[in-house]
Amino acid sequence: MRIVLGVAGGIAAYKAVLLLRLLREAGHEVRVVPTSAALEFVGAPTWEALSGRPARPDVFSGALEVDHVRIGREADLAIVAPATADLLARAAGGHADDLLTSTLLTLTAPVLMAPAMHTEMWQHPATAANVATLRARGIHVLDPDSGRLTGSDTGPGRLPEPEAIMAAALALVPPAARAGEPGAPAGPLGGRTVAISAGGTREPLDPVRFLGNRSSGRQGLALARAAVAAGARVRLAAANVDAGLLAGLPRGVEVRAVETTAELDRAMTAWAADADLLVMAAAVADYRPARPAAAKLKKTAGPPTIELVQNPDILAGLVAGRRPGQVIVGFAAETGDDAGSVLEHGRTKARSKGADLLAVNEVGASAGFGDVPNRVTLVDSSGRVRGEAHGSKDDVAAALLDVAAALLAPSAD
Ligand code: CTP
Repeated sequence: MRIVLGVAGGIAAYKAVLLLRLLREAGHEVRVVPTSAALEFVGAPTWEALSGRPARPDVFSGALEVDHVRIGREADLAIVAPATADLLARAAGGHADDLLTSTLLTLTAPVLMAPAMHTEMWQHPATAANVATLRARGIHVLDPDSGRLTGSDTGPGRLPEPEAIMAAALALVPPAARAGEPGAPAGPLGGRTVAISAGGTREPLDPVRFLGNRSSGRQGLALARAAVAAGARVRLAAANVDAGLLAGLPRGVEVRAVETTAELDRAMTAWAADADLLVMAAAVADYRPARPAAAKLKKTAGPPTIELVQNPDILAGLVAGRRPGQVIVGFAAETGDDAGSVLEHGRTKARSKGADLLAVNEVGASAGFGDVPNRVTLVDSSGRVRGEAHGSKDDVAAALLDVAAALLAPSAD
């Protein structure tokens, strides 16, 4: 998506740098439009280097491209973070005295403003009236967080965390635009939001080594492609997935790169709040080193003894917090052993995990991982087989989403 990131002049401008990074990492084109006061806090080189585009505050330097009209017209979404009391006042008053306020007047895309200021300024009747005016015009103005402000004071006025701003802003864009398929006929997941995890988590032993697994992320990526094709708005938490594979994703997939189980847990748990369908395709490390070394472990110290502690079971957490109507799918990577076949282990796991569907997947040296055909059996939470899928990972993904889509309650619209 093409996103305008307006930045007003407040200390929280540094958090907008993190927001810019998140947006760029998720594959969005971002045009930063700072006010001149914002540049007192974070300079243009930072915005330009991270966005790859000019970041200027005035309407005169980009006059040739008529930037003050073009930027707004071309955007799919605009975010103003931080929105200061002064910016809210100028926007509410319809001013066009710099590039940001001019752009706000030409935008037809959804606009989210994330205010940040001292508590007294936020609670002042003038600011309250400006916020009410903007909201009445359809602008989504977030309430600021409460907490530590610039000095020693605390109270409402903190800029919400960049992840929260990004999630709230992306949720304003209609699903078709988000999937990059404007006007495309709605598929079986039309209007639905799907969050998928892919890849394998890594747990650091020291700054250069980790405990990990052999998952390439290909099955999760295939699910993301299939979900887009089925009309969904798709979010993908990619645990250590090769950048080249991620580059092949269709436009509109919101990607969050994660490394550890804790990071993956945070992403999926946050997305669960508004997802219709959750798919845990990532291979998650069940244990992590209790105390990762701060410095590289040296051979001279002899073989280390590594104490492991249990990671949270993300799927179990999602099932425990399941919203009414939400469908949750897990994968069971099994090898089969003396205690049971692949399917027997899968059925036992399906009963204990409580997910609506468990895709039981035979893995090993020559099956399941990497660029090889896949075979899965779909088992429900009572252990009953609900379907089978085999062939390429794209075939498996499409078959799995068909079965999952059938479990979703009909949508309200
Ligand atoms: N999973 C998870 N969190 C974990 C471990 C697994 O969310 N800490 C999810 C996986 O993404 C997958 C499902 O649970 O969807 C089953 O993963 P698997 O590794 O097969 O099962 P485990 O529960 O780890 O059981 P075991 O390793 O003992 O077979």
